[in-house]
Amino acid sequence: MKILDAKFLKDFVRMADDGYQEGWHERNGGNLSYRIKEEEVQQILPELHDQNEWRPIGTSVPDLAGEFFLVTGSGKYFRNIILDPEANLAIIEVDDKGENYKIRWGLRDGGVPTSEIPAHLMNHEVKKRLTGGKHRVIYHSHPISVIALTFVLPIKDEVFTRELWESMTECPVVFPDGVGTVEWMVPGGRDIAVATSKKMEQYDAVIWAHHGIFCSGEDFDLAFGLMHCIVKSADILLKVYAVRPDKLQTITPQNFRDLARDFKVTLPEKFLYEK
Ligand code: 13P
Ligand code: ZN
Repeated sequence: MKILDAKFLKDFVRMADDGYQEGWHERNGGNLSYRIKEEEVQQILPELHDQNEWRPIGTSVPDLAGEFFLVTGSGKYFRNIILDPEANLAIIEVDDKGENYKIRWGLRDGGVPTSEIPAHLMNHEVKKRLTGGKHRVIYHSHPISVIALTFVLPIKDEVFTRELWESMTECPVVFPDGVGTVEWMVPGGRDIAVATSKKMEQYDAVIWAHHGIFCSGEDFDLAFGLMHCIVKSADILLKVYAVRPDKLQTITPQNFRDLARDFKVTLPEKFLYEK
């Protein structure tokens, strides 16, 4: 099968374009990766070349040894992906130690995978382990409202989770485990990848102060849908703050407990503190 005709590639491209249309990807902001299924790799194997060297990932992901990923290229613009996937995306293979990668397709006019490859692969490694291989999509974006909130709320998992839950009733049902936060760090390296993947052990979404957000999901719909809910909730919260600094009424801790009972989700009590 032609790689450009593969369903996973089309779904990847559609999601990237949806994110661009939402305004989450200025210039080359954000990146996306998909852990390709074994049967999908088999279908495209004849089209993968072997003309590149192994290059260091910049961290170690032994549980991803031998896996193939579709990833966005570093410095490539999300708005261009739909026009020319082969120039803006890459398929990479991880070596048998989980320390190096090789470009097997894409980046036709040159380039390297996203600079956030350590964070993407470390998040994939955690999620593969903790979900029995179900999670396959890691998505990083730069949404205005989420970034804005990191200037006015304490960078604490409990506070971000509670404020986002309170801003839209569906939120605790969509992300009952909450969201994690990471204080400002230099992006693109191993340190921020380690901090993020540690939070991914507890959460499917991690907010980077003054930078953006990472989401993990089983498939493109779930990863995009999670990002979409969090961004919409952050939009609402910012609008509320713009009208007045305090809320006249809100969803209470007891409301959340009632919701959890009826929707059959477990909401950790650490998020239901009295204010
Ligand atoms: P890349 O262009 O290398 O993917 O970087 C964009 C980004 O958002 C870094 O955090
Ligand atoms: Zn970024």
